[in-house]
Amino acid sequence: MGQDSNETKTKRKRGGRSKEKKSTEKVFTNEEQKQQGNGSNQKKSQEFCPFGNYKNYYGYRISNDMDEDPRLKVMKKEWFQGKDCLDIGCNSGVMTIHIGKKKFGCRSILGVDIDSSLIEVARWRLRSFVRTQTSAKPGEKKTHSGGADGSEEQSIPLSNGSNAETKDLFQVVSFQKENFLHTRNLDENRYDTILCLSVTKWVHLNWGDDGLITLFSKIWRLLNPGGIFVMEPQPWKSYEKNRRVSETTAMNYRNIVLRPEHFQNILLDKIGFRTVEDLTSSLSGVSKGFDRQVLAFQK
Ligand SMILES: C[S@@+](CC[C@H](N)C(=O)[O-])C[C@H]1O[C@@H](n2cnc3c(N)ncnc32)[C@H](O)[C@@H]1O
Repeated sequence: MGQDSNETKTKRKRGGRSKEKKSTEKVFTNEEQKQQGNGSNQKKSQEFCPFGNYKNYYGYRISNDMDEDPRLKVMKKEWFQGKDCLDIGCNSGVMTIHIGKKKFGCRSILGVDIDSSLIEVARWRLRSFVRTQTSAKPGEKKTHSGGADGSEEQSIPLSNGSNAETKDLFQVVSFQKENFLHTRNLDENRYDTILCLSVTKWVHLNWGDDGLITLFSKIWRLLNPGGIFVMEPQPWKSYEKNRRVSETTAMNYRNIVLRPEHFQNILLDKIGFRTVEDLTSSLSGVSKGFDRQVLAFQK
């Protein structure tokens, strides 16, 4: 559901039932992927996002009637206050910037994403937020709209900042383009809290069971003792809709043995996390198709 189901709906409207089936069943060859990725005037329904690198992700997750992403309400201040944090698969940085704000009081938060254009948007969003807040009158709430790339990204509420906090925000929040699976092997830095929200499916589909275990092991290694890993896994049924975004994902999908319902046991029994807290029941008001588990593991 969510973004995936919205894309399917668009296809159904345009192409009718039989075409829709053909369209969603298509497996992209590597050459087609390159062409799709380079096309500047692609239609929205043809957006090629093999890593879940949706350009308007938060437009789907945060509807106009929400004041913020509902997941923020289950995030505990103690996980972030005075802590060094990492947000894996940060997309265009909306959650990362929110968590970097004074309300959560991070010492630092680094957002990383495989897609360089999303990292550019995230950096733009941060600059834009700071600029908007520093020019706002005291008590005035502001939001910003539009994308750095000129896209029609929906206005995302990032308000409630004060001038004192925005001055520091550049010191707290940063963004970096990287494929997390291929980086940080020799990284000496350690983090107190690591977020991995709605990313596991994309790692799993693109790098299979081995990639998923690499992701979990690396997170564990990068955490300080007592550190927190917050994970929002996508359910197995949602893999099916995305399995054919590329030849690689189609092949991996067929060979995947581990299932999202096993992740909790893998993280506790094999990776070595000590405890898990299931925050799902405290989550309310999420957009249709995004009612996913949120789990917090402690190293
Ligand atoms: C569906 S979005 C989730 C965004 C964000 N974490 C949230 O939930 O608000 C998944 C993101 O993970 C990123 N991603 C996928 N595989 C990645 C990898 N190996 N390294 C870094 N980022 C990755 C994608 O580019 C995409 O922006």
